[in-house]
Amino acid sequence: MDEVVIRAEGLTRRFGAFTAVDHVSFEVRRGEIFGFLGPNGAGKTTTIRMLLGLLEPTAGRAWVLGHDATRETARIRPRIGYVSQRFSLYPDLSVEETLRFYGAAYGLPLPRLADRIPALLELLGLTGQERRLVRHLAGGWRQRVALAVALLHEPEIVFLDEPTAGMDPLARRGIWSLLYRLAEQGITVFVTTHYMDEAEQCSRLALIHNGRLILQGAPTELKAVSGLGSVLEIEAAPLDRALALLREWSIFQYVTLHGPRIHAYLRAPEVPSEEIRKRLEMAGLGSISVEPVAPSLEDIFLWVIERERSNPAV
Ligand SMILES: Nc1ncnc2c1ncn2[C@@H]1O[C@H](COP(=O)(O)OP(=O)(O)OP(=O)(O)O)[C@@H](O)[C@H]1O
Ligand SMILES: [Mg+2]
Repeated sequence: MDEVVIRAEGLTRRFGAFTAVDHVSFEVRRGEIFGFLGPNGAGKTTTIRMLLGLLEPTAGRAWVLGHDATRETARIRPRIGYVSQRFSLYPDLSVEETLRFYGAAYGLPLPRLADRIPALLELLGLTGQERRLVRHLAGGWRQRVALAVALLHEPEIVFLDEPTAGMDPLARRGIWSLLYRLAEQGITVFVTTHYMDEAEQCSRLALIHNGRLILQGAPTELKAVSGLGSVLEIEAAPLDRALALLREWSIFQYVTLHGPRIHAYLRAPEVPSEEIRKRLEMAGLGSISVEPVAPSLEDIFLWVIERERSNPAV
C-alpha cells in the first residue's frame, strides 16, 4: 500500500506574470483516495493537467507510476483514466453504445470489451440502464457513465476533476461509494472537490489555495498540523453584533460564521466561557450559549486559509 504512484516536486505553472500553481509538492500512494481541495481558481485543474502531461510545468517535476509526467506521457496514458471537469458524452448514444464507442476508440480488442462492459455496468451500478440514452440520464448517472468510460482500459489511477459538482447530496453519496469500491480494488483515486464533507472521506488530502499547497495529511492528522487551538461555538442574538464584538477581542485568533452560529478560535488553551458569556450579556445580547467544540475540517481549512491570507510568507 505504500508504493508512491504520483509524486509532484515543486510543480509550478505560470501564465504570463500570473502563477496558477506555485511550487506544489505531494505524494499519492497506491490505493488511496487522494483529495485535492481548493476554492475556485485555486489551481486544481492546472495541477491535474500537468500530471496528465497536457500542460508543461514552468518549473518543478511530476512522476506518475514512476515515469516523468511531461516527457513519458506515452508510457503513462495507457495506465491512467481521466474524467475532466466539464466532460461531455454524446447525448444520443445509449449507455452501452457509449462504452462500445469509447472502447473501440481506445483500441480495446472486441473480446476484452465484451467482458469489460458488463463488469463495468455492474461495478458502477448501471446494470439495467444499458439502453437508456445519455441525454435522458440525470447528472449523477451521467457521471457514472463518464467514470465507466475512464475505467474501460482498467487504469491503475483515475483522475476525477470535481466529479460531484452540482449534484444533490444523494447523488454525491452514490458517487463516493463508487470511489470507495474502486479504492478497494486497488485503484488509486485522485479527486478534486470543493465539498468539505467529501474531504472528510478521503484517505489523505491536500488543500490548495492561490496556487499554493497549504496543508496536507489524513483528515485526522490535519488538526495537529494546522496549529488550530480550541474552538468555541457561540450563539447570540443578534448574530451580526455578536460577531463584530468577538472579532475585536484579542483572545481569539479568528472568528467566523458557521451556519447560524459563530465559531471562535482561541489563542490559548484555556476556555473562558463564562467571561465571554458575561461580556456578550453586558453588550445587551440575548439567547447566549458558549460551548467548546471539536474543530471540523471546515474550521481547519478556514483557519489555515485565514492564516495564509494574513501572513502569506509563512
Ligand atoms: N490557460 C490559461 N491561461 C491563463 N490563466 C489560466 C489558464 N488556465 C488556468 N488559468 C488561471 O489559473 C488559475 C487556476 O485555474 P484552475 O482552473 O487550475 O483552478 P481550479 O482550482 O481548477 O478552479 P475551479 O474550482 O474553478 O475549477 C485561475 O485563476 C485561472 O484563471
Ligand atoms: Mg478546476
